[in-house]
Amino acid sequence: ATGTAANSRYAFDELAWGNDETHHVARGYDADVLLRWGDPITADAPDFDVMNQSAAAQLQQFGYNNDYAGFLPLNAEGSRGLLCVNHEYTNEEVMFPGLGRQDKAEFAGMTQALVDIEMAAHGGSVVEIARIDDGKWAVVRDGKMNRRITPLDTVMRMDGPAAGHPRMQTSADPSGTQVIGTLNNCAGGMTPWGTWLMAEENFHGYFWTDRLDAGGKPDLSDQPEAARMNRYGVPGRWYAWGKYYDRFNIDKEPNEANRFGWVVEVDPRNPEAAPVKHTALGRFRHEGAETITSKDGHLVVYMGDDARFDYQYKYVSKGVVSADPAANSNLLRDGTLYAARFDPDGSVRWLPLVHGQGPLTAENGFASQADVLIDARLAADALGATPMDRPEDAAPRGDGTAYIMLTNNSRRTSGRTDAANPRARSDFGHIIEIKEDGGDHAATRGRWSILVKCGDPDIAAVGAEWNPETSENGWFASPDNCAFDADGRLWVATDQGRKWNKTGKSDGLYGVETEGDLRGHSKLFFRCPAGAELCGPYFTPDGETLFLAVQHPGTDGTMALKGFERASTFEDPATRWPDFDPDMPPRPAVVAVTRQGGGKIAT
Ligand code: FEO
Ligand code: CA
Ligand code: CA
Ligand code: CA
Repeated sequence: ATGTAANSRYAFDELAWGNDETHHVARGYDADVLLRWGDPITADAPDFDVMNQSAAAQLQQFGYNNDYAGFLPLNAEGSRGLLCVNHEYTNEEVMFPGLGRQDKAEFAGMTQALVDIEMAAHGGSVVEIARIDDGKWAVVRDGKMNRRITPLDTVMRMDGPAAGHPRMQTSADPSGTQVIGTLNNCAGGMTPWGTWLMAEENFHGYFWTDRLDAGGKPDLSDQPEAARMNRYGVPGRWYAWGKYYDRFNIDKEPNEANRFGWVVEVDPRNPEAAPVKHTALGRFRHEGAETITSKDGHLVVYMGDDARFDYQYKYVSKGVVSADPAANSNLLRDGTLYAARFDPDGSVRWLPLVHGQGPLTAENGFASQADVLIDARLAADALGATPMDRPEDAAPRGDGTAYIMLTNNSRRTSGRTDAANPRARSDFGHIIEIKEDGGDHAATRGRWSILVKCGDPDIAAVGAEWNPETSENGWFASPDNCAFDADGRLWVATDQGRKWNKTGKSDGLYGVETEGDLRGHSKLFFRCPAGAELCGPYFTPDGETLFLAVQHPGTDGTMALKGFERASTFEDPATRWPDFDPDMPPRPAVVAVTRQGGGKIAT
């Protein structure tokens, strides 16, 4: 019968699930470590010395916690290209020998020198890579376009309706159009014209205040914008940066937080060009920014706001994609941002965030389009968008279909479920499929359905729904990143976070069928070392290489299974992947997967 696993469109022998110190890939494939935290990426960069770290060295070395990975070919064969990688965040207790876990209220061990290294380890990397004789990938260290992008020293422009607005002005930038750096870059996207979009996710965590209430929570009583700050979780006080940099202290620079939470465009081929924060795409905890061209040539960007009960967005450009790459950047300056409302009858309505329309007026606190975009969450609240189970990455396909990863939402109570978020205490997440009207990504209406409800299908109380052909290896929890391959097949990567021991499975990469009798069938291809989540994934256009970003190995969870009862610090991590050197902590790294003997993956 066609509906049996043997007829899967993903032609590989399924990997067995598990959890141990190293990574695993399906038989017949190689998964080679290409770039680790600290690896030199310029001709002049010093070798990594974990006992003698400095910001100056880190600025020429691959950053920490690789998340998005995109690839821009530089030749027709695709054998040379630029790898564009986001560095989302840092784990100071694993990075710095002897530091140990920090009390997040005080960060007593964090000096300015360590803060500067952390800042230099955030942001992104552009690295030229090339296939060498045996078909493997290698870093081209003297590549002219290799560079780091960081929150320490990379000057960026801002454009679009909110640029220059008084709420975007600070003492260092009275123009409100220039900002230093980018924060918490999670997923992202490559545009049709070869630029790289970096999404700024949990930016709130980097802002500090010295004013705490009796319960130790930020006291915003002196902040005129307290309600708006609260809606975004500013200040999160996750990092000590605000102790050393006034711009990250809201007591001194309350507007700086308005300058983060955007989508940043980088031209990887032009290292002199300043990255641009495009305010037309709205300010929220941007998970990713995957683009697609609509039927009549508009650029469409699907974007999740990864927080419990926040929204799914998309952006549609006013103009159309042209053959002139320089003109295309304007598409991200002028267009319409929408938030999604998922109705119980299976229809999805895209609600425009346009000043003056509906409730988005001065009487309701939106004096201009700049306010609508800076406070996109509040605008979407007012429009009645559907509060989701943490929208992570999204994957649009040319036929007007998009897949939305909803990772989990432990706070959804039975009284707050709805058709599109149907499970109370959703620990395992689900995936929604959207089919836009007329197969057109620019449409403002479409139909939605649930592709899979995640978790163990053998435990009735979990309420999982998979294609029944899915094996014990194939089901997963907490979808996060996703991608299509060259043949239009969906791949989903997981991030179970500290809840990983609810499944006992390491995070991994799965091929998930979207069509036919096997719709909802999932198959395990790669799994991470203990304590890591899987990011990327990105297929080269020829389908022969898959880049995977193994993030925070050794750190996530209590490691209560199989002897991994560890403290997850530099001294005592759950794994020392990928070096397995007792003097080296585990290192986040990008892995290149290729087929032994060559050829397309999973065919
Ligand atoms: Fe950075 Fe929502 O994952
Ligand atoms: Ca993510
Ligand atoms: Ca994640
Ligand atoms: Ca994680």
